[in-house]
Amino acid sequence: MILVTGASGHLGQSIIEKLLPQLPEGENLAVGTRNPEKLKHLKDQGIDIREADYNDKNSLITAFRGVSKVLLISGHAPNDERIKQHKNAISAAVLAGTKHLCYTSFTHPAPESRFLFAEVHYKTEELLKNSGLTYTIFRNAWYADLLVEGIEQMLEGGKFEAAAGNGRINSIPRSEIAAAIAKVLASPGYGNSTFELTGPDTFTYEEATQWISEAYQKEVKYLDVNTEQIRKLYGGDASFGFEMQGILSSYEAMQANEYDYVSDDFEKIMGRKPLSVREFIQEQAKQSKSAG
Ligand SMILES: NC(=O)c1ccc[n+]([C@@H]2O[C@H](COP(=O)([O-])OP(=O)(O)OC[C@H]3O[C@@H](n4cnc5c(N)ncnc54)[C@H](OP(=O)(O)O)[C@@H]3O)[C@@H](O)[C@H]2O)c1
Repeated sequence: MILVTGASGHLGQSIIEKLLPQLPEGENLAVGTRNPEKLKHLKDQGIDIREADYNDKNSLITAFRGVSKVLLISGHAPNDERIKQHKNAISAAVLAGTKHLCYTSFTHPAPESRFLFAEVHYKTEELLKNSGLTYTIFRNAWYADLLVEGIEQMLEGGKFEAAAGNGRINSIPRSEIAAAIAKVLASPGYGNSTFELTGPDTFTYEEATQWISEAYQKEVKYLDVNTEQIRKLYGGDASFGFEMQGILSSYEAMQANEYDYVSDDFEKIMGRKPLSVREFIQEQAKQSKSAG
């Protein structure tokens, strides 16, 4: 049995949708969530819905019973808490007799990274590699969806405000990450390996702004602002809590070109190149035009 945690989230839902049609004969699928009620619609598709809270190790041990391969989708909490959550999941997999754990890490998870949340990922990777479990690590680049989500506002205001400077960024649509992860989950092998799931090229936010202008045929200007302005833009520290420092530090990492690299790991898994951010923007523009 394969179990996907975080299955109610954006990435988890996309993985389940792509994994179901390619499940090997005789293989079963289970999903983990803190709130099984949220996923009860999956029951009709023969999916086993299990309660699993990263803060509650016993719930994870129970959820992982009879599961041979777990996909741990990284959680969402301040660093110390999130590392503890992931530690709980890895240790629960060992105790439940799971053989193989796959983890959604993040691009450039290095101790020297300026990005605050990099710590969660390099520490989790280390815990997993030392756990004795067979591991597969997916270092997911920036979701292109995060950029696209802001397009309406950019078109309205005629500007894209960010603090990435001239930093080049790697990014990939979530659905492409999900396609690669689903393929790996459905296939034998891929043990003790790390995949860098990036788009086919890197870009600056200024270039992305031009692609948005072209695709939507409306002028949008890139405005590089300072961190104080970013704070204001997001409504201040109070509304974003621990995430605010994550956002600000992500811009520092972008400015320092920490994400200026691409990998062909996606192509190795899928046998094709991933959709680029430019193509993704064009696709979104077409969809929004046809929606009226
Ligand atoms: N690469 C990037 O650009 C990028 C950007 C943002 C985030 N991320 C990371 O990627 C992950 C997945 O992205 P997404 O877009 O799918 O996020 P999402 O839509 O917010 O979903 C997060 C999932 O995590 C689960 N979760 C959170 N805390 C949990 C806990 N204590 N116990 C069990 N499950 C918990 C939630 O499950 P339930 O609520 O059902 O329990 C939810 O399904 C994020 O959580 C984050 O770590 C990556």
